[in-house]
Amino acid sequence: MKVTIFGTGYVGLVTGTCLADMGHHVMCVDIDEQKITNLRNGVIPIYEPGLESLVKTNVANGQLCFTASAEEGVAHAEIQFIAVGTPPDEDGSADLKYVLAVARSIASHMQSHKVIVNKSTVPVGTADKVSALVSQVLAARSSTLGFDVVSNPEFLKEGAAVNDCMKPDRIVIGSQSAHAISVMKELYAPFNRNHDRMIVMDVRSSELTKYAANCMLATKISFMNEMANLAERLGADIEQVRLGIGSDPRIGYHFIYPGCGYGGSCFPKDVQALIQTADSIGFDSAILKAVETINERQKSVLVNRVQQHFGADLHGKTFALWGLSFKPNTDDMREAPARVVMEALWLAGAKVQAFDPEAMEETQRIYGQRADLVLCGTKEAALKDADALIICTEWKNFRAPDFDSLKQTLRHAVIFDGRNLYDPDVVRRYGFTYYAIGRGDSIKTY
Ligand code: UDX
Repeated sequence: MKVTIFGTGYVGLVTGTCLADMGHHVMCVDIDEQKITNLRNGVIPIYEPGLESLVKTNVANGQLCFTASAEEGVAHAEIQFIAVGTPPDEDGSADLKYVLAVARSIASHMQSHKVIVNKSTVPVGTADKVSALVSQVLAARSSTLGFDVVSNPEFLKEGAAVNDCMKPDRIVIGSQSAHAISVMKELYAPFNRNHDRMIVMDVRSSELTKYAANCMLATKISFMNEMANLAERLGADIEQVRLGIGSDPRIGYHFIYPGCGYGGSCFPKDVQALIQTADSIGFDSAILKAVETINERQKSVLVNRVQQHFGADLHGKTFALWGLSFKPNTDDMREAPARVVMEALWLAGAKVQAFDPEAMEETQRIYGQRADLVLCGTKEAALKDADALIICTEWKNFRAPDFDSLKQTLRHAVIFDGRNLYDPDVVRRYGFTYYAIGRGDSIKTY
């Protein structure tokens, strides 16, 4: 089948590439001409394992192409995906200007029936807005062309996006049009072998499903962070508690890892957007507000520990910081806890020597040159002359450091671990003071 995808960001590029790899003829459209030129030459704007070679192969074999021309994109296929950004407005609600601009563009150029598929994460009711806009533009053109608007949310995880797209847990389709449903079934048939993963529902339920999924996951994390804060004040070890509760299949082991807060492009934005949606209809979502508050508080836990240990004024102190991206296997620093940590350290007068396996360029781009930030080429270089080590992201490379040389290199044998990477007893045996999340040395009130 022929498919057009508007937006070559994370979701659009991964989806388009996977659809092409399954044999569809995919055209990706973006208004950024430089990005299109780069993509044609195999230069990928994001770091995502497996994506680069897949793009190159499918461009080479003619399954995947890129254009900056919306007109060409609209003419290419009946199926038109909208996969552009929905950045938060000042009040946290999702800004639909890019989604609606694409809808307008499709309506202006279309010469035949279109199935317009919304893949961007959009508030409940957006499909209706897209429909109204397309109808309005067609009416202004005096056109009687038909179209369907489908909601088809994505559930990709950064760092595992290609695999998630190739082997989806579920394919949610929101539509009540028999034609659109059959087109979507044919499109996803290659991803839907062996057992049926397709869940067809009405458009609004599909739109809410995406928010409900991310908010549920964010809730699990904030709940565990709340338990971690209680555990360390009560002399319990959250990692033991995690195993104890995860063994109940009703709870499960997934997404109950405590840490220094969730980040990324989805959870913070989607929780805020659903709070905003609830507020806008006069419903006070107490749970979502608590999830958000707890997460904001959690991002400060590490620096609070640092200041308890070294004092509030950190002038003259240097901290090694391992891990800058919001999670491993990505260079994405959107809403990353490491940013909150770094900025708080700077505010208190400290210097940061940072290392991340992928996010160094991104850090440089965000913060530029500053005297209190040194970007180091290795995790060992970051330790040199540092007072203590702070860990914000659980990259594999950080899991088994040489504790002896770590101790010799740091000025003080202190580790602040925001991801519970080590066994507190082992680290203490090496002579470290070890602050972790919900375990280790902490504020004992018992
Ligand atoms: C998430 C959803 O998982 C995905 O389905 C959706 O489509 C987009 O949002 P992503 O943002 O890529 O994906 O990251 P994810 O792996 O879910 O992690 C999000 C954040 O939660 C990270 O900061 C991570 O460190 C944190 N996290 C995750 C925890 O703190 N504890 C956990 O147990 C799991």
